[in-house]
Amino acid sequence: MITGIAWIGASFYFNFLENSLNRTQNLREELAGNLWAVHGGGFYYLEKYKHSPKVIPKDLHWFKWEAYFTLLSGLTLLAVVYYYNASIYMIDSSIAQLSSVQAIAIGVGTIVVSWVVYDLMCKSALVKNMKLFALIGFILVAGISYGLSLFLSARAAYIHIGALIGTIMVLNVFFVIIPSQKSMVNSAKKGELGDPTLGKKSLMRSIHNNYMTLPVLFIMISNHFPSTFGNDNSWLVLSALILVGVGVRHWFNLKGKGVKNYWLLPVSIALLIAVVIYTMPKVKSPSNLGMTDVKSTVISDHKAMQMIEKHCLSCHSVTPTSSIFSSAPKGMMFDSFSSIKTNAELIKAQAVNSQIMPLGNTTNMRDKERVELGLWLGNLK
Ligand code: HEC
Repeated sequence: MITGIAWIGASFYFNFLENSLNRTQNLREELAGNLWAVHGGGFYYLEKYKHSPKVIPKDLHWFKWEAYFTLLSGLTLLAVVYYYNASIYMIDSSIAQLSSVQAIAIGVGTIVVSWVVYDLMCKSALVKNMKLFALIGFILVAGISYGLSLFLSARAAYIHIGALIGTIMVLNVFFVIIPSQKSMVNSAKKGELGDPTLGKKSLMRSIHNNYMTLPVLFIMISNHFPSTFGNDNSWLVLSALILVGVGVRHWFNLKGKGVKNYWLLPVSIALLIAVVIYTMPKVKSPSNLGMTDVKSTVISDHKAMQMIEKHCLSCHSVTPTSSIFSSAPKGMMFDSFSSIKTNAELIKAQAVNSQIMPLGNTTNMRDKERVELGLWLGNLK
């Protein structure tokens, strides 16, 4: 998140510069534009050159480590959190019975193949049609989200879509944008004009990166929003949110260029509101699960405690027996009746209205049990 903020912040800042440069008044011949700004108690004055300066200054600032560290730290976290504990974070036995190695192979494979496909798309004739490129790109991402949702746990599917978008963005910087800038600097040192197609290619990748920023930021923190990945159609929710992110970004880009657009922002906001409504917790009741045998008979306290012991206490206990968690995750312990009562709403949200808990459904909690637990919790007050 931190290096991502540094990276995306710098990228937004240069976007702003491009859009706000004075390009017409009182400019020296060699300049494309200039800009005055006030920030943090000082005045700044900036100039952009049309081509390269006559002498390349010794201290030339580059912007690349923010991007590289986002990838390095992100992949490290992916490995430490998800791959190291693949059995609970990657695999959901109610979705697919996979081994850890299979789950990790699906994750890594998706990221690698996505980059290769994207890179080929960029080198094909498709790039000439930006709208078609965006449409195909979006359909592919939605398709991959759907595909991953058939194999991996929902939160792992989300984080992998984020990882694949983030990887594409960073490799754009590494393989295209920075090499093209290096070649620009080298040509300038020799007093040559350099290859203009390099600049064009790198601008295109920069534009792609720009549109991917908001979705990737959301996915980085998506684990904090169980209503999104916990939805039965989590891939659809993610696809819609990606569309919202791209739409909002496009509106800002148009605004920056001074192009008026009246529908994009309201439509994006409307889509976001639709997602909010769609992801509102739906209470699982016996009738909407088609269960006539459960009716509204509330199970005994003893049976409910047994159920929680079976499905939750291996992790959420003063003394967890789980081989992965030596202390209760998030400090949530359900050993006693009173602690269950205090956390009734949270338990309901995680294990009844959605199926996020038990994590990875390692204990194979069934729908019927969730309904019974929900009815019992509802009667606690
Ligand atoms: C395999 C271990 C494991 C099991 C079993 C498990 N949980 Fe969790 N639980 C976790 C972890 C890890 C977190 C923290 C998740 C996160 O960081 O998003 C968590 C978080 C929670 C939270 C807090 C959610 C929040 O963000 O506020 C609740 C409530 C919860 N679990 C309920 C349950 C219930 C109810 C059960 C049993 C039906 C259960 N858990 C079974 C590992 C487990």
